[in-house]
Amino acid sequence: MNNNLIIPNHIGIIMDGNGRWAQEKGLARTMGHKKAVETLKDLCIYMADVGVKYCSLYAFSTENFKRDIKEVNFLMDLFITIFEKEFAFLIDKGVKVIFSGRRKPLSDKVLKAMDKIVEDTKSNKKLVLNICLNYGSHAEIIDTTKKICDMYKNGKINLDDIDEEFISKNLYNDLPPLDFVIRTSGELRLSNFMMWQASYAEFYFPKTYFPDFNSIEFDKAILEFNNRNRRFGGIK
Ligand code: IPE
Ligand code: IPE
Ligand code: MG
Repeated sequence: MNNNLIIPNHIGIIMDGNGRWAQEKGLARTMGHKKAVETLKDLCIYMADVGVKYCSLYAFSTENFKRDIKEVNFLMDLFITIFEKEFAFLIDKGVKVIFSGRRKPLSDKVLKAMDKIVEDTKSNKKLVLNICLNYGSHAEIIDTTKKICDMYKNGKINLDDIDEEFISKNLYNDLPPLDFVIRTSGELRLSNFMMWQASYAEFYFPKTYFPDFNSIEFDKAILEFNNRNRRFGGIK
């Protein structure tokens, strides 16, 4: 990658198109999810190396439970393998893993694997990998609202304490705003991904299916980000 390019501080990736990637090759949809794991591992190494500080990955939405139970179970088992084995290399790569999303109704086995990778990588400082699993923006806003109402009810805060910074700090994780959101596969929507955090993000919708989203595709995305003129409501 060209050294003069600005690397977005916080990148969101909606990893979409696994099923179509497989179907177009005459394979089962699940094969697309499997290939996506390889793509993701390479991408994590690449992002850590080029200096991305925060990356939020959309792995499973609150709505994805609507899928065929077999596909949901396959994904849950895949998550366990990823967090128990496939992601072990992140410990030495300086990547800190955190999760955003509702723990309920995830199984104990999935939760245990999640908790372990968080624990194993908690001291890492290079890249924060925020994995959005059983995540939905609406759920996050509901859960945050309840948390804040509780604080108010217990006399811990006053109404005037609630401002943008306070809301941000009380979301599932206290993260900087998203600068750049990439959604692979050509779909042009957020599908309930980090609506609060994406308020001033730049959006990029490559047609590439996620399993084919390699470092060359990532470089193209960064180049596109560098051609954007971010104004944040001001004049420039
Ligand atoms: C994204 O790929 C992975 C998840 C949502 C878990 P899809 O499974 O949505 O693939 P398409 O969009 O059907 O091709
Ligand atoms: C969004 O993709 C969720 C993830 C990538 C995890 P979907 O494939 O579930 O989104 P829709 O249904 O096409 O909006
Ligand atoms: Mg999809």
